[in-house]
Amino acid sequence: MNNKLYSHLIFELGRPGRVGYSLPASEFPRHELPAKACRGRAAGLPECDEPTVVRHYTNHSGNNFGVDNGFYPLGSCTMKYNPKINDETAARREFQNLHPLQPDATVQGALQAEKLLCRLLAAVTGMDAFTLKPCAGAHGELTGLMVIRAYHESRGDTGRTKVLVPDSAHGTNPASAAVCGLEVVEVKSLPDGTVDTADLETKLDDTVAAMMMTNPNTLGLFEHRIVHIVERVHACGGLMYYDGANLNPLLGVCRPGDMGFDVLHVNLHKTFSTPHGGGGPGSGPVGVRRDLEPFFPTVNPYHGNFLVELRALAYLLTLGREHIGQVGPLATLNASYIKESLRDVYELPIGGLCKHEFVFDGLRDKSTGVTTMDVAKRLLDFGFHAPTIYFPMLFHEAMMIEPTENESLETIDRFIAVMRQIAREAIESPEVVKTAPHTAPISRVDDVLAAREPVLTYPETQPTEP
Ligand SMILES: Cc1ncc(COP(=O)(O)O)c(C=O)c1O
Repeated sequence: MNNKLYSHLIFELGRPGRVGYSLPASEFPRHELPAKACRGRAAGLPECDEPTVVRHYTNHSGNNFGVDNGFYPLGSCTMKYNPKINDETAARREFQNLHPLQPDATVQGALQAEKLLCRLLAAVTGMDAFTLKPCAGAHGELTGLMVIRAYHESRGDTGRTKVLVPDSAHGTNPASAAVCGLEVVEVKSLPDGTVDTADLETKLDDTVAAMMMTNPNTLGLFEHRIVHIVERVHACGGLMYYDGANLNPLLGVCRPGDMGFDVLHVNLHKTFSTPHGGGGPGSGPVGVRRDLEPFFPTVNPYHGNFLVELRALAYLLTLGREHIGQVGPLATLNASYIKESLRDVYELPIGGLCKHEFVFDGLRDKSTGVTTMDVAKRLLDFGFHAPTIYFPMLFHEAMMIEPTENESLETIDRFIAVMRQIAREAIESPEVVKTAPHTAPISRVDDVLAAREPVLTYPETQPTEP
């Protein structure tokens, strides 16, 4: 791993008058901006030559960790490899240079690609209609809940204000319900990690707008009573919302629509191998059964993140009908193999068969005080990204591991060997683990302070008077 730290900020590299470009003289007449549209003070931006800028950002990019650097077993987030053919497709000039306000007649090919993606997503999920507009999973959740609310209102059923959410759910589920103006009611899990249907029964009445579920749930367990749950929620007039963040293990094997879900979102940046966040474009298309299609709201005036959609389409077409059914079983096999290979040294609070991911509750031997955070930091020394940690909040030392289907046996075996080595170190030399990482450019940062009191400006570059 690159352990050189390029700590200087671009502001420190600037020198007055230095430039990295030269523009040709403009052929247009010069227009002065009205005074009120002008800054009172110079912006204080660094002035740099091109090599300085390129080296600065290239060196910083080497301090990052991504799916192209190494194994990234981030549970619930499905950090699968993004095949390069996706990028090649999206980089085609014919797609790159489109503008969302171009006349329809000039973008028929792009619209055709979007339509095909909607058709394939519908085929994979068992839904009838899709909108590609939402730009993240959470955005999809909000969109789907708006569909559900509008549906109930259209029937004059305005007393449906509650959304049922299992206690193992991802935080965005209750957050989206609250943003949509709905009340969140938690449903308990059984000791085996699945939804407690007796608890569900006590919460079902004519105020329920919907129940949100992900299946497999965030513990990687298939909700085997799903058909019964769907029947009970439908019987009281509520709709079923499927959070598609965990669709990966079901791909080509079974479909949320066939389980009885009415509305769902899929995260193209998880299941369909497009790049994740980092502030970049995500995509959370929403699918519904036919009679709910008229209730799609306008959550985005354009077409969603089109180049992300193309990447997902390339992925689906590359797999094709013949291969799509291999994704889920391989992801499940990889997760199960890691779980069974490590359960003698890491605490497995819920045994049994897992799907694409599973959760450990820290080390089995916690006597030396080595925590899940310490293990996560030590993994970086071996070139592995950490799993998701301290989520779900059902366990104190949660460590959620999702290998995805892409990894080779050699990579997975090396991860297992490193996890076992860390468990050994935790007993024999705990300080090594507690002070990790030792090879990363930055050791431990105070992430709580960073979140609560972020420093968002560079203090030494106060704008200067013109
Ligand atoms: C189970 C689950 N639901 C919803 C989301 C939200 O998706 P997004 O990050 O695309 O907004 C996530 C994200 O990690 C998730 O894991």
